[in-house]
Amino acid sequence: MEQYVKETSQSLKTRVGTNPVLLLISGGVDSTVVAALLLKTLNSEQVHLMYIDTGLMRKNETSAVRSILEKLGAKNIHVVMAEDEFLSALKGKPEPEEKRRVIGDMFITVQEREVARLGLGSDYFLAQGSIRADFIESGLTTCSANGQPSHLEGTGKSNVLKSHHNIASPLVIAKREAGRVIEPLASLYKNEVRELGRFLGVDDELVNRHPFPGPGLAVRVLGEVTKEKCDILREADAIYIEELKTRRGPSGKTLYDEIWQAFAVLLPIRSVGVSGHAPSPVSGVSGSADSALSSAGSNTNSASNIERKYSRVLALRAITSADGMTANVYPFEIRDLLEISARITNSVKEIGRVTYDISNKPPATIEWE
Ligand code: XMP
Repeated sequence: MEQYVKETSQSLKTRVGTNPVLLLISGGVDSTVVAALLLKTLNSEQVHLMYIDTGLMRKNETSAVRSILEKLGAKNIHVVMAEDEFLSALKGKPEPEEKRRVIGDMFITVQEREVARLGLGSDYFLAQGSIRADFIESGLTTCSANGQPSHLEGTGKSNVLKSHHNIASPLVIAKREAGRVIEPLASLYKNEVRELGRFLGVDDELVNRHPFPGPGLAVRVLGEVTKEKCDILREADAIYIEELKTRRGPSGKTLYDEIWQAFAVLLPIRSVGVSGHAPSPVSGVSGSADSALSSAGSNTNSASNIERKYSRVLALRAITSADGMTANVYPFEIRDLLEISARITNSVKEIGRVTYDISNKPPATIEWE
């Protein structure tokens, strides 16, 4: 790792010189590790970190990102609040690939406008946190050991799995042709990116953070995205992740650390349920998982003043994986799922039903869209 940092830093310095470098920060591991690398290698005044709040971020993400970057020594942090623009552009667009395209284009529009506002000129370099898996999944390959973008080649695959906005967008392509894209993680797998982050002194909490897709909650709110749906998903997802961070798995580590990626997905359907004197399913879990199941079922059925209503359905996903290319469903203890489900439905009133996704990759992908 030391050798990798040494070589990458040297080639970065030579390529960039005294030009400004702009890095789009997503709040995830990859772009934060690139930020750490840039700040370690270059003059911090040269490094511009732009974080676009698309309205598709997780709960409290924007303030958390700002404080992480400040800790890394960033001087130029540009937070752009663009929720309205993104959500308006997504209106009436339920198709996953179209949503990705819209978000990618909007990123570029906002980025260009904000960069112009910053007055960085046309010679700035664009740094990105793309990792090896991003290129492979986008139908591209990199043959470079140090991940220089000029070494990227198309595989000729017409069947692009998912258009990752940070690779396929027109501005990135133009910048790439001008030799002004920096992707220092392009040859690394996720576990290597984490190792690099630790080596660079990035907080463990962030280094161990599960991957989060560039299009954010837009690919976890299935179908058309609205602020209301994002807010519901944000709340439910935050509860799920908080629970995973406080519960322990068989290895003694937290469930969060045993799992490679976990998140909630808001399904585009409503399902019938009952409200009224619902039991607290958590209290039913004091004995065995079996008793939790039967207690939750029978109390609900015997409750009086029950009203039928159609509520939203949430899916929980949790997988183990080495690199995201293949994945296995995490085998939760049923008690954990019951308690987490109960806490979600008790706290997020719009959600009436919680399911657990038990599909490996392949055949399913990790994200639902
Ligand atoms: P899939 O769903 O393809 O996901 O099995 C593999 C890994 O990639 C992430 N992912 C994305 N990341 N833009 C991204 O930056 C995307 O459009 C995108 N789609 C999936 C996913 O979260 C998982 O870690």
